[in-house]
Amino acid sequence: MTNHLKFINYAHDLAFKNFGKTFPNPSVGCIITKNNKIISKGVTSRTGRPHAEEIALKKAGKKASGSSMYVTLEPCFHSSQNGSCADQILRSGIKEIYISCIDPDPRTKNKSITKLKRNKLKVITGLEKNKTINLNKFFFKSLTKQKPFTKVKMAISNDEKIAWSDYKSKWISNSKSRSYVHKLRSNSQAILTTSKTIIKDNPRFTVRNKNKIIKNLNVVVVDTNLNIPLNSKVLNNLHDKRVIIFTSKKNSKSQKLIQIGCEVIQMKKENNSLNLKKLFSNLYKLKISDLFVEAGGIFFANLLKNNLVDEIHLFKAPIIIGEKGIPVIKGNNLKRIDKKLLEKISFDDNSYFKYQVK
Ligand SMILES: NC(=O)c1ccc[n+]([C@@H]2O[C@H](COP(=O)([O-])OP(=O)(O)OC[C@H]3O[C@@H](n4cnc5c(N)ncnc54)[C@H](OP(=O)(O)O)[C@@H]3O)[C@@H](O)[C@H]2O)c1
Repeated sequence: MTNHLKFINYAHDLAFKNFGKTFPNPSVGCIITKNNKIISKGVTSRTGRPHAEEIALKKAGKKASGSSMYVTLEPCFHSSQNGSCADQILRSGIKEIYISCIDPDPRTKNKSITKLKRNKLKVITGLEKNKTINLNKFFFKSLTKQKPFTKVKMAISNDEKIAWSDYKSKWISNSKSRSYVHKLRSNSQAILTTSKTIIKDNPRFTVRNKNKIIKNLNVVVVDTNLNIPLNSKVLNNLHDKRVIIFTSKKNSKSQKLIQIGCEVIQMKKENNSLNLKKLFSNLYKLKISDLFVEAGGIFFANLLKNNLVDEIHLFKAPIIIGEKGIPVIKGNNLKRIDKKLLEKISFDDNSYFKYQVK
């Protein structure tokens, strides 16, 4: 492996460490080297600012002059507190820069690369480009589609049911599968669910390890008629997360929900429900770029009908629920979805399949 490849891979390892913590910004890694030795490094901070390059440059100080930078995404062109990253790089005296991927954000796209080249820096692009794209899929997709990148989680029985006919709250998947769900949750910006799933299951939608809460996740609830019970567990810890409720109602209950700290977004009913495409555009405007869906088969079918699903995360357990159980996709089955298998893992007798929806 060449040194360039080694260093850019190291920058990717750094980016990977902060993945899931920088939403709605991508996680970017940066290292600065001199005489083939790393002199400083940086990764996007949790609030998105400062950027990885700014952190690495600050740590390197005057030593940055005459050095090389390896960064996983094109440095920003739009200005921040200390000027754009492109300007900071120019001021630092860095002589060459290796950039994995061009930033799709129109405020930067190719502009920084052009500026750096015009100012006589050696700029090399494309090294391990796919690593950046794969790590920050949500960023590339949400920016181009102007709606959140959407992953649907489903735990199903062997006969493709997600719950028993009496909606009795019982786990379908085993504990190893459920731990993995918590990992998937922790790498997501928000959970998307329905008030029906909240009423039936009263989930907490937190990230937990051995029953200890590690993260209170943002929750988005689709609730046409504002049926969410005020004592739902998702309404706990509102100081530490966003709860966004989409509804057609404006009444004393919506006022109460706003008072306790929820964001309540009114939308007009269309054919007795909410227009999911418009709801997704609204979510993007509310800076939600990544969703992990945990809801039932009616909602899943509606998401698919509107082409709003990017990935399916399926956990299959060797049990039979029977004909009367709640189907994974109301009025459809999984075989008919045009999808590509990306990953398969066994969790004892459960199987996990990750699909990309085409
Ligand atoms: N196995 C799993 O992985 C898993 C995961 C989550 C949930 N579940 C189970 O799923 C069961 C519920 O499944 P379900 O299929 O009956 O219900 P669901 O899909 O969770 O929710 C259906 C409801 O969502 C609302 N909805 C759907 N599309 C909408 C739209 N476009 N606009 C507005 N509202 C819309 C409607 O209710 P309103 O009109 O009243 O708003 C609809 O009745 C629960 O028992 C839960 O345990 C299983």
